[in-house]
Amino acid sequence: ASITFIDQSGAERVVEARDGQTVMEAAVINDVPGIDADCGGACACATCHVYVDDAWREAVGAPSPMEEDMLDFAFDVRPSSRLSCQIKMSSALDGLRVTTPERQG
Ligand code: FES
Repeated sequence: ASITFIDQSGAERVVEARDGQTVMEAAVINDVPGIDADCGGACACATCHVYVDDAWREAVGAPSPMEEDMLDFAFDVRPSSRLSCQIKMSSALDGLRVTTPERQG
């Protein structure tokens, strides 16, 4: 499934993710800038913060309570904020669009 990452300048990068791979893993493997992922996907660092495109927010769903707590540590949190290591890719999310924040942490 494809994911489009958009940075703060509006530049878009499209990557391919396997089913079950997280959005964070797809970013790291493909050298997408703006995702630090210091904890390696354990929902313990909040440096994999992204904004989910409005059109995709329902399909992606809401953060878990644990993710919600960790998001408190992220920079410039918005209603569309998610930790990308907690979003698992599937064909249902093919074409997902997320924006990376100005900075992590
Ligand atoms: Fe650390 Fe997502 S990689 S919370």
